[in-house]
Amino acid sequence: MSDNYDVVVIGGGPGGYVAAIRAAQLGLKTACVEMRGSLGGTCLNVGCIPSKALLHASELYDEANGGMEKFGISTGKVSIDVSKLMDHKDGIVTDLTNGIEFLFKKNKVDYVKGRGKVAGAGKVEVALNDGGEQVLETKNIVIATGSDVASLPGIEIDEKIVVSSTGALSLPKVPKHMVVIGGGVIGLELGSVWKRLGADVTVVEFMDRITPEMDGEVSKTFARILKKQGFKFKLKSKVTAIKTTKTGATVSVEPAKGGDADTIKADAVLVAVGRRPYTEGLGLAEAGVNVNDRGQVDINDHFETNVPGVYAIGDVVRGAMLAHKAEDEGVAVAEIIAGYAGHVNYDAIPGVIYTMPEVASVGKTEEQLKEAGTDYNSGKFPFTANSRAKANSQTDGFVKVLSCATTDKVLGAHIIGADAGNMIAELTLAIEKGITAEDVAYTCHAHPTETEAVKEAAMAAGGSPIHM
Ligand code: NAI
Repeated sequence: MSDNYDVVVIGGGPGGYVAAIRAAQLGLKTACVEMRGSLGGTCLNVGCIPSKALLHASELYDEANGGMEKFGISTGKVSIDVSKLMDHKDGIVTDLTNGIEFLFKKNKVDYVKGRGKVAGAGKVEVALNDGGEQVLETKNIVIATGSDVASLPGIEIDEKIVVSSTGALSLPKVPKHMVVIGGGVIGLELGSVWKRLGADVTVVEFMDRITPEMDGEVSKTFARILKKQGFKFKLKSKVTAIKTTKTGATVSVEPAKGGDADTIKADAVLVAVGRRPYTEGLGLAEAGVNVNDRGQVDINDHFETNVPGVYAIGDVVRGAMLAHKAEDEGVAVAEIIAGYAGHVNYDAIPGVIYTMPEVASVGKTEEQLKEAGTDYNSGKFPFTANSRAKANSQTDGFVKVLSCATTDKVLGAHIIGADAGNMIAELTLAIEKGITAEDVAYTCHAHPTETEAVKEAAMAAGGSPIHM
């Protein structure tokens, strides 16, 4: 293995591995340093992918467990073997992480297994997983070290009773009662998994609503649907202490503004109050790389830090902590380093919560448009009026299209519905390409599909849906 590179990427997650592959495809001699022992980062190893395996399995379990009776299908008593489910999930993770290793070989990216440190411009020191050290000389460094779980003061995550998302993906059995701290993406996705597998779930959320950043109307509908599924919410509340025993925990909860504490007994507590950029041991201070007051590596519009030749992308920099945002930044940074015009449009990054129903958004929320004083039209179409959703008995939710009152360009779109994560793609493309709501409305959509609700919502933005 040569020690002289055009690009060395530190971190092999969705940002880093994609940057490395793209750089190699563009003819740059590239290495990727990763310490985890497998590629794919949080997303593949302990995030998006294993959680989706559990979400899917728990949906099947829920359906088999009485959910299909409305279609005349009775299954009798259904049981779950959690250990077999975990083996299945782990197998998927292994297949996919090995797949990236294969892509590295195919694209001639050198995979260096160890902990990388920026030792100044042009130099990365690696403490190798197998012992010893390797120094990589390189023209460019891309920091793509991602993020780590954030905790709360005084609360220790033991990954047994008090778990982060990582521990919640590997619980050995279904807890009777799970307390989730934080009503955001992780709390609601993993809360849904264990809820469907039989746990009672109580979510403690600091703000006055769950998913506080989301379009208000969507967030309200989402909370109503989750309550109907049996979720309990303690809003405007904070957890101040957790006392654990070998088998459970007593969680102290106070009003967010302070006041008398209440206690809740739980068998498992999931801490899901956000993530923080991961920069430990990277040598940033010694190398003179600036970090902002949120702990994110500071970059300019071209992903370059204040140290020439040192770039950063993904969860470790500003912006949404999303795998696909990191991937797009990975492609862009590689193209910039190779002399092309790499670019990411941050107005067109979709966000999806993979609950049932799913929640997907792109672009501006109504609250953001109001705050900016933008004149907009809002078109909404409910799945109760969509024939396919009706046939599938999945009528919860709606599509909302927000368009500019002057130009009719799509500015934002919000979908709550069974297949929202797939359906948001069309509206993301609309925003990316500056398409109008009328363009979407006059595009032929196959019948009968849920995507017709997108067409109808776009029509509604212009004032005249057909089926409502
Ligand atoms: P989040 O930011 O989505 O939600 C955290 C929630 O915790 C917020 O609602 C916040 O108000 C609340 N909170 C904060 N401090 C609290 C306290 N002391 N007591 C009670 N509530 C408190 O963060 P989450 O769910 O941990 O996810 C972390 C990151 O991972 C996010 O950036 C998310 O976008 C990303 N992610 C994305 C997924 C997806 O795209 N499907 C899946 C999982 C994670």
